[in-house]
Amino acid sequence: MPLVTTTEMFKKAHEGKYAIGAFNVNNMEIIQGIVDAAKEEQSPLILQVSAGARKYAKGIYLKKLVEAAIEDTDLPIALHLDHGEDFEICKECIDAGFTSVMIDGSKYSFEENVALTKQVVEYAHARGVVVEAELGKLAGVEDDISVAEEDAIYTDPDEAIEFVKRTGCDSLAIAIGTSHGAYKFKGEPKLRYDILEKIQTALPGYPIVLHGASTVLPEFVELCNKYGGDLSGAKGVPEDMLRKAATMGVSKINIDTDLRLAMTAKIRQHFVENPADFDPRKYLGPARDAIKEMVRRKIKDVLGSDNKL
Ligand code: G3H
Ligand code: 13P
Ligand code: ZN
Repeated sequence: MPLVTTTEMFKKAHEGKYAIGAFNVNNMEIIQGIVDAAKEEQSPLILQVSAGARKYAKGIYLKKLVEAAIEDTDLPIALHLDHGEDFEICKECIDAGFTSVMIDGSKYSFEENVALTKQVVEYAHARGVVVEAELGKLAGVEDDISVAEEDAIYTDPDEAIEFVKRTGCDSLAIAIGTSHGAYKFKGEPKLRYDILEKIQTALPGYPIVLHGASTVLPEFVELCNKYGGDLSGAKGVPEDMLRKAATMGVSKINIDTDLRLAMTAKIRQHFVENPADFDPRKYLGPARDAIKEMVRRKIKDVLGSDNKL
């Protein structure tokens, strides 16, 4: 099976009131852990590559690994560019065979964001590639840029509706209270479901994307802290809040931090318990297993994308 786009996935997800997990990938072990989980749970999948991941691993390595994963599992997998910051990076990924790209013009004015997104949509659609855009501003850390919680800007539903109509983008990432990284809320977690509801009422069935949607699972935070880390104050989006969003038109849920925490917790644990070890397979293996179990649980209990092939 070749790489797929997200069109069919999102249509089915919306009808079935579940979401597709979009997991950030940076190396082979992360890809294998995610894909093995999806295979066991019979779930469609989006694997996404950030600019940082492309720089770290080289895009071509990640693409070939994802192609190997498809050959190994026969799963429908979309390969997506996460947070493309300009037309050039989107074009490069489209030309390299990605089936989906994100143009993140959220830092620009509304009109500039519309113009940039339209340019990417035109290029992508002519080549059968789908486009995610973003409106509003999430708090948190992303590609070394930090946005404070008080500087985050919720998406304006009326603007979102106009934005989708004018740009023709295939899905829209909105800011309703989630944020990137491990420190998402200072106080109680809160999501603005009312924004989601307004957009869905005006654009029924339109795929909404939630970035910054890791739960920051306590088991991995505790393990990191127990084995020499310091993640005090870490807080993510509770699983029941994500479940609710998935039933309200959120078709894509982005997860990176939970993968990082699972991997790091297991590696920390390994070295404290086995200080003399120096075989990478001995610590990357358990890290991969932890990712697999974590993703399996997310697919079943949070995303609801199990048995949806
Ligand atoms: O939203 C950003 C993702 O977590 C990717 O992070 O840019 O450090 O690879 P990165
Ligand atoms: P988290 O930091 O919550 O995992 O979000 C990842 C993300 O939005 C990638 O684009
Ligand atoms: Zn993001």
